[in-house]
Amino acid sequence: MPEALEMAARDRLAIALDVPSLSEAESLISRLGAVPGWLKVGSQLFGIAGPDAIACARREARVFLDLKFHDIPNTVASAVAAATAHRVSMLTVHASGGVEMLRAARDSASESAERSGAERPLVVAVTVLTSLSPADLKEIGVATDAVEDQVARMVDLALSAGLDGIVASPREAALVRARAGDGLRIVTPGVRPAGWPADDQARTTGAAAAIEAGSDLLVVGRPVVQADEPEVAARVLVGEIEEGLARRSA
Ligand code: C5P
Repeated sequence: MPEALEMAARDRLAIALDVPSLSEAESLISRLGAVPGWLKVGSQLFGIAGPDAIACARREARVFLDLKFHDIPNTVASAVAAATAHRVSMLTVHASGGVEMLRAARDSASESAERSGAERPLVVAVTVLTSLSPADLKEIGVATDAVEDQVARMVDLALSAGLDGIVASPREAALVRARAGDGLRIVTPGVRPAGWPADDQARTTGAAAAIEAGSDLLVVGRPVVQADEPEVAARVLVGEIEEGLARRSA
């Protein structure tokens, strides 16, 4: 495998540091052997360790801060500014927060990066949580129970707000790519190796299939975090990503 392709595959893998303490995060990071190009800090770890979790992950990889901001535009802008100051490379907002909130997030990322001399983080919007099924959408009052329709609507919002990407299940990656062209990066959680249960994810697929469908970055938690050998599990995923990239360009 040429090294360039190997690097490209690693840069398409984010491991979710979904563990309950900073010491467990440090141990997981060392057990990952620098295989993934990205480490994701979510609500659980950030709630426990805050910016220390970001600092610890930044020593090994780019940091994806997944706090899924969803608030009034002014508050989201402040939250994005704080995240930018901690030098994260990517962060999430909920597309359903509306176009003004999305624009506030994008503008704040640019302005605060310029002010502090930090890298501008990529702002990506969650479309429909991968744990939600059509029945769940109906239950929360979304006008359509077709997940694809709601994802398409959120993609249009993200595009019109000038965001960098969207989070969508691997099953919707092809739909998003068709609708957004190369205008948005596609980040996909809900990836499962063969034989691993879906857990609470309702819309899952394998890593190669997700990449082939157009995903740019895969986010994987439990199948790696709970593996006996996280580095081996991550390497298997990198191999599957390479397979997906090869199929995509075939
Ligand atoms: O353990 P698992 O592989 O299901 O973890 C997926 C990760 O991706 C979790 O950290 C979860 O918070 C995150 N995520 C998700 N669905 C989204 C956005 C983020 O599952 N729409």
